[in-house]
Amino acid sequence: MSTNSHPTSITNSATLYPIGVFDSGVGGVSVWREIARQLGHENTIYFADQGHVPYGPRLMDEILAFSSAIVRFLLEHRCKLIVVACNTASAAALQTLRLEFPAVPFVGMEPAIKPAAQYTRTRKVGVLATPATFQGKLFASVVERFAAGVELIDQVCPGLVEQVEAGKLDSPDTLEMLHKYLSPILAQGADTIVLACTHYPFLAPAIQRIVGPEIQVIDPSPAIARQVARVLEQKNLAAPAKQVGQHIFYTTGDPQAFARLLGHLAHRTDSDIRQAKWEGASLNVYNS
Ligand code: DGL
Repeated sequence: MSTNSHPTSITNSATLYPIGVFDSGVGGVSVWREIARQLGHENTIYFADQGHVPYGPRLMDEILAFSSAIVRFLLEHRCKLIVVACNTASAAALQTLRLEFPAVPFVGMEPAIKPAAQYTRTRKVGVLATPATFQGKLFASVVERFAAGVELIDQVCPGLVEQVEAGKLDSPDTLEMLHKYLSPILAQGADTIVLACTHYPFLAPAIQRIVGPEIQVIDPSPAIARQVARVLEQKNLAAPAKQVGQHIFYTTGDPQAFARLLGHLAHRTDSDIRQAKWEGASLNVYNS
């Protein structure tokens, strides 16, 4: 040992393992970019199941089966913590994943009803989410815990996930859909809107333009990244602060299309993007 080395330089190697983040598609990149921004020293693996997007209209059991296989894939790639960066998968699978993989720390998405209830003055809050998210027990439990005295205006948004997957954040057809989905919320006097699908934060600038500056639009991603940091600290799994995080992306769709989208949505070019393929109920890597 040289005289310059610090005794504190002995690092638990698990701290260098990546954080796994998954979604049905590019939506979870809204969460991933916050994790990469707040925790730039952490390695990550992002998994987009674009072969199956959208998850929202699917049966809960099917979403659970996909989620469980993706978690197994991420664990085979040594992920130390898994972020279910998808409200729909969190609604369908989070509880079961925690039972199936009891040793794994999970951070999931739950609709941000709590901050919305604290913020609203009109006591009316619009919630944008997929059908599966509204059906799940998780949503019912969040409503029961945090929405006392608040009227929630639940709005499903068919087609919006597909628009984001196509990179159409501001196109006439996207704006038309947004007008249609936001009108009932505005007509009922909501002053707060919760984005309860991780694809929707990419539409936040368009949404804010439509609803006006007086309405609070809540994107939970910064809070999720803070929660990831807290869990890593609690479990002694945080990477050394001086490390520069490396990022790998997997998609079950077309890696080139994913690369273009990542450039468009997260201003990232030259990313390490690989293809994963479903073979029956399990996942294999291609061209890695
Ligand atoms: N990004 C997702 C969510 O947060 C999934 C949307 C979908 O695939 O339908 O709900």
